[in-house]
Amino acid sequence: MRVIIRKNAQAACVTAARLIASLIHQKPDAVLGLATGGTPVNCYAELIRLHRCGELDFSRVTSFNLDEYVGLPREHAQSFYSFMHENFFNHVNIDPSRIHLPNGNAEDLTKACDEYEQSIACAGGIDLQLLGIGSDGHIAFNEPGSSLASRTRVKTLCHETIRDNARFFGSEAAVPRLSVTMGVGSIMDARQCLLLVTGEKKAAAIRSAIEGPVTSQVTASALQFHRFATAVLDEPAASWLSRKSHCDFAESSMPDPDEILR
Ligand code: PGA
Repeated sequence: MRVIIRKNAQAACVTAARLIASLIHQKPDAVLGLATGGTPVNCYAELIRLHRCGELDFSRVTSFNLDEYVGLPREHAQSFYSFMHENFFNHVNIDPSRIHLPNGNAEDLTKACDEYEQSIACAGGIDLQLLGIGSDGHIAFNEPGSSLASRTRVKTLCHETIRDNARFFGSEAAVPRLSVTMGVGSIMDARQCLLLVTGEKKAAAIRSAIEGPVTSQVTASALQFHRFATAVLDEPAASWLSRKSHCDFAESSMPDPDEILR
């Protein structure tokens, strides 16, 4: 796994955005897998900035989001549908018909999950999947114990995730208990994975994901088996890595993603 370490969260977000921009330059009709949460907000802000400068065109881009809460109306302020529109889609020229999010309100959730997998396949698969990590080591809502071969399905949130996300809902009681999430297997099918992690409270989780054994107890660790996975971390998130200095040394001989579009 390529590990890029930046001084602070803002710099990490800019680097992740530049890696995404670079892909869109190479492939204007790229299929992006997108993520929600506090971490990627400034990555989306940088993509919006590049778009506004005339550097980035999303008109042919297709997107698939990782997950959505079950039973939360789309219009709810904390739905991932609302999050994505407020923080990204409303500010770039992506074609609304190319935007996809799992439907947490489908009458038949199992059927909707299967159809979501089919739409990803019909779009030709995901070129780049943006990911965050939960403090319990999850990617998307693949909580500890999720099968590493899992596909899009309904998943119950762990207490740690409910506690972490309570900050968005005002209380733990208000956080939905169920989600629809792409599986670890669905994520591993992406041609490229980009894991963006910031803040010291994620240091233990990212250390387990990058340096620990591959285990369903830390679903992000499955990325160790991915052929093209990049982790972009800030210093606090990287602070528990035992091979941090090697990551910096290896990176010094790589082209700097920040130079793209400078
Ligand atoms: P966060 O969430 O960016 O809000 O920390 C990440 C995640 O749970 O995947």
